[in-house]
Parts: sequence; structure tokens; C-alpha cells
Amino acid sequence: MTLALYPGSFDPATYGHLDIARRAAAIFEHVVVAVYDAPPKNVLFSTEERVTLLRESLRDAPNITVDSFTGLLVDYAKHRGAKVIVRGLRAISDFEMEFQMALLNRKMEPALDVVCLMTSVQYTFLSSSILKEIVNLGGNVDGLVPKHIAEAMREKLAGRTDPGEIPRYLTS
Ligand code: PNS
Repeated sequence: MTLALYPGSFDPATYGHLDIARRAAAIFEHVVVAVYDAPPKNVLFSTEERVTLLRESLRDAPNITVDSFTGLLVDYAKHRGAKVIVRGLRAISDFEMEFQMALLNRKMEPALDVVCLMTSVQYTFLSSSILKEIVNLGGNVDGLVPKHIAEAMREKLAGRTDPGEIPRYLTS
């Protein structure tokens, strides 16, 4: 069985991520969407929350499972018996970072290969960080992430300790 890993921060998953997961699932027998436990950036959602949001989004896909991992991706891939890493490309600007990661991963584990899938054109402008910024400033992300994720973002950001960033004219 060809098992592919689709790793990422998924903080939270957008329709772009879900599109890549489903595209991968149409190519490989099984896809494990692997949520990285400790990305080098501030995360809005805990690892468990990111996993739960993804599971809910992909529960209709029989050959996709969602898991989380710590440590090096190459070690996790070996542990799962995966030979392929899937990553999404939105634009040329993504390529440089993906190329660097792919070559470093290959240096550490030559048997592991990376397959990059192009995101559907309607999702090329999406990124988790920009969507978090929009919600943080009182904007609407409906249609860019599944409903339950938009709701979770609103709830999470409503509970923040520094709600001073939304201009008064939007809240009064
Ligand atoms: O969604 P992201 O933030 O672009 O995903 C990046 C991710 C999680 C794939 C990358 O940071 C990763 O693989 N982290 C695991 C630790 C690791 O192996 N680092 C060396 C990468 S060359």
C-alpha cells in the first residue's frame, strides 16, 4: 500500500489544505494528514484542536486519517512506513521553501520523496495566517474555511485577552 503523509501546521486548516488532502487521496491508497505539534510560530489552536478540526472536515474521506507528530518529519515518516510526503504549492513563492525542505529531508532520509500538488486556483490566495488576521480584526472568513472552523476561529479569538485590536466603530 502506498501511504502518503501530508504534514503541516494546519492552524487551522483552510479549504486549500483540504483540497490538497483530497487530491492526494485520489492518487495514493492512504493519506495521513500529519499535524506538526510544535511549529516555530505562535499557534492559535492546540495540537488536539487542530487534529479535531481536520477530522471533522475530512470525515467523509475513507482513505484519509488525521494524526499529529512531534520531532523530525523524516522520523515520523519512517515510523509510519510512509515513502511519500505530499505538500501543496499555491504559487512560485512557495517553491523556494518547499525545495529547501525537500532537499534537507532527502539528505536525512534518501528513501523519502516529496510530491508537490498544485492548489486549485480558487484557493491560491488562502493562508491560515492571513485568515487569522482577518478574524482577529473582526472580518468574515465564511467560504474560505469550513463552517465549523470559521466558528472555532471566532470563538477562539473572542476569548483573547487583548481584544483592543478591533476598531471601536465595528463593536459599538
Ligand atoms: O504548514 P507548514 O507550517 O508549512 O508545515 C511545515 C512542516 C510542519 C511540514 C515542517 O515545519 C516540518 O516538517 N516540521 C517537522 C520538523 C522537521 O522535520 N523539520 C525539518 C524540516 S526540513
